[in-house]
Amino acid sequence: MKVRGRNYRTVWLDRKTLKMIDQTCLPHSFRVASFKKYFDVADAIRTMVVRGAPAIGAAAGFGLALAALSYRGRDAEELRDELASARAVLAGSRPTAYDLFDALDYVFSAKDECSVEKIKLRAATLAQQYADISVERCRRIGVHGARLIKSRSSVLTHCNAGALAAVDFGTALAPIRFAHKASKKLFVFVDETRPRCQGSRLTAWELAQEKIPHAVIADNAAGHYMRTGRVSLCIVGADRIALSGDVANKIGTYEKAVLAKENRIPFYVAAPVSTFDMNAISGDSIPIEERSPDEVTHIQGKNMNSVRVASPGSPALNPAFDVTPARYITGIITEKGVIRPNKAAIRGLARG
Ligand code: MRU
Repeated sequence: MKVRGRNYRTVWLDRKTLKMIDQTCLPHSFRVASFKKYFDVADAIRTMVVRGAPAIGAAAGFGLALAALSYRGRDAEELRDELASARAVLAGSRPTAYDLFDALDYVFSAKDECSVEKIKLRAATLAQQYADISVERCRRIGVHGARLIKSRSSVLTHCNAGALAAVDFGTALAPIRFAHKASKKLFVFVDETRPRCQGSRLTAWELAQEKIPHAVIADNAAGHYMRTGRVSLCIVGADRIALSGDVANKIGTYEKAVLAKENRIPFYVAAPVSTFDMNAISGDSIPIEERSPDEVTHIQGKNMNSVRVASPGSPALNPAFDVTPARYITGIITEKGVIRPNKAAIRGLARG
């Protein structure tokens, strides 16, 4: 992604330091955070310095590589144990996005090498490979998804499934980027996405960088724009997709999908294969993260200033994701093409 004319990925390894665009500071300031220890990477995932399913995956993969690279001993068995502990800590950082576990499995296979040096080298290579593959998957999602966007259409998106949520390009925003690049005239309705406002803070910022016409709308306004014929299609990302085609994504996605069906508007989910959990039979088996109630009772402004907006003393509930049943989803845009949200099509993805 271009930031002030320079190309950036969301996460990248610079020798033995992991760098990330600090998403807690956007849109007010653009900062790059640095990490040398895997437990600090786990903390960055937990506190959402990095967030979005594919970005969390790549960050966790690099985190595991850091655990290998910072090992000072000479005992391969001891290094394998360290990698297993690091993997458990990173896996415990956030529960819903499947890419996190997919990336950890990928990089953890470095343990099968026979010496300390080989394990280190393999872990670093695999983490880099994982990030590069993730970029290519998102690029292809962009190519396939752009075909669904006609000129003079308006797209509604929820949360941030842009380059910031991936290593580059994004998932839901990749088709929008490619359609804009192909000079199609389009407009994007950006759901604010309370409580953490990933839409108004991050998606709006990304679209502004690319000069893609858009407007932020309050979450409650989506139904109004759909009913009055102003939305041509919806594209959202995913945190985990079950074998049934049910999709877990940012809280509020489900109600947008129901509204879309009621108003006969196509509702697409964009996700790479790393987001599909072939062991989750249906959406009911997807763990839904509960975050701090403070995210609901307070709003964060510039310089991390937090202001309480809820009545003092009132408790709050804060599920971070919801499940949209497959029957509300028109199609899933993957790097292999657009598929139907059902078991046969999803099993077909795994076969290649
Ligand atoms: O809590 P977040 O900000 O990590 O949630 C992110 C989302 O729900 C995204 O829509 C999803 O991860 C897809 S990212 C390409």
